[in-house]
Amino acid sequence: MTKVAVVGAAYTKFDEHWDKSLRDLSTEAGAKAILDAGLEGKDIKALFIGNMSAGRFIGQEHLAALTADHVGLTPIPATRVEAACASGALAFLHAYLAIRSGQYDIVVAAGAEKMTDIKGTDAIATLMGAGDQEWESAIGLTFTGLYALIAKAHMHKFGTTREQMAMVSVNNHMNGSLNPNAQFPKEITVDDVLNSPMIAEPLSVLDCSPITDGAAAVVLAKEEVARSTRNPIWVLGSSQASDTLALHNRKSLTEMSATKAAAKNAYEQAGLKPSDINIAEVHDCFSINEILAVEDLGFCEKGQGGNFVEQGSIKRDGSKPVNTAGGLKSIGHPVGATGIRQVVDIVKQLRGEYGQLQVNGAATGLALNLGGSGATAVVNIFGKEQRETFKTF
Ligand SMILES: CC(C)(COP(=O)(O)OP(=O)(O)OC[C@H]1O[C@@H](n2cnc3c(N)ncnc32)[C@H](O)[C@@H]1OP(=O)(O)O)[C@@H](O)C(=O)NCCC(=O)NCCS
Repeated sequence: MTKVAVVGAAYTKFDEHWDKSLRDLSTEAGAKAILDAGLEGKDIKALFIGNMSAGRFIGQEHLAALTADHVGLTPIPATRVEAACASGALAFLHAYLAIRSGQYDIVVAAGAEKMTDIKGTDAIATLMGAGDQEWESAIGLTFTGLYALIAKAHMHKFGTTREQMAMVSVNNHMNGSLNPNAQFPKEITVDDVLNSPMIAEPLSVLDCSPITDGAAAVVLAKEEVARSTRNPIWVLGSSQASDTLALHNRKSLTEMSATKAAAKNAYEQAGLKPSDINIAEVHDCFSINEILAVEDLGFCEKGQGGNFVEQGSIKRDGSKPVNTAGGLKSIGHPVGATGIRQVVDIVKQLRGEYGQLQVNGAATGLALNLGGSGATAVVNIFGKEQRETFKTF
């Protein structure tokens, strides 16, 4: 099977975009990614686009064909992929498999969401479509509420503190303050987080990722094509796993078993261990989730995520830099776009072209994108150098 690399990568500014439609944002990201690859539209053989809920956010379904049309890529096959907030990374996984299978040589994986055209309360209700309708959404639970339950359980079981969760947001905003594409590019303090309005105890506004518009795109290519491009970043592992949709059916509230399963397979495919990963993009939709992620990805022991953060391990100059461009917290979280945005940030780091945000010497990177309260997990692993260890499972 052919090896696969990311050869072009870009995202729009993540923001509240009153003056741009979803198709404008997708086109901007797609065109920038194709230009970045040094390719042209006619070179692209297929498109996969991650999107959670354009039907409810902007009243537009049939998004894949719409995007192919607007970007000028018709008549290539165009497929929309939906897995709530993990839609982007899952679109990436399917683009990767489409090349890996030998069907196509060059494919675009994109992600896009426009969330701010409806009222905030309607956006939150739309997001909750990714929860269990009968057991969660119908009784008024929100994702902030669900993650608050997870946070409470983690605090109770392991002694994790609100301050440690706040340090996640502080770190991500510090990185995001240097990212011109971030929605909230400003530094914050632990006190700012603790004193911001409470949404669902113990999570306050500044523990939460915001409501955002944005799009991201990457170009993937098979080995022969990738080698002729300027700086290919190789896909070393790509895996997906699932868990119960409803939180009350989980064996444990303090771990994401889908993350562990997807990570295990991705590490095996890559022939790497958690300690071999230089940088990570993880799904900090709420600050507690970054603490669970560093544990479930094996960067520290279960229960030690809060201490790992407090010791500074996740900082850009720490032992395991996490969310080096600002994460969902500071960059924003246009849900269908986030999984691709994470890939773009890993690619820029591994190329060594991330300016002020650069983590020197990064050669391997991992991206974790979650759907809902963790019912879908997608883990993609990347490297500057290629390896050949693909395993089926
Ligand atoms: C946290 C949340 C409830 C805040 O929404 P809100 O109360 O309607 O916030 P508003 O839009 O009124 O904004 C209030 C202020 O805080 C800022 N703000 C809002 N959310 C913010 C965030 N997450 N981070 C930083 N600043 C934020 C706004 O810019 C605004 O600032 P201003 O007063 O200076 O203009 C909302 O962003 C949310 O629900 N986030 C979670 C989204 C989610 O569940 N995603 C899926 C995850 S699985």
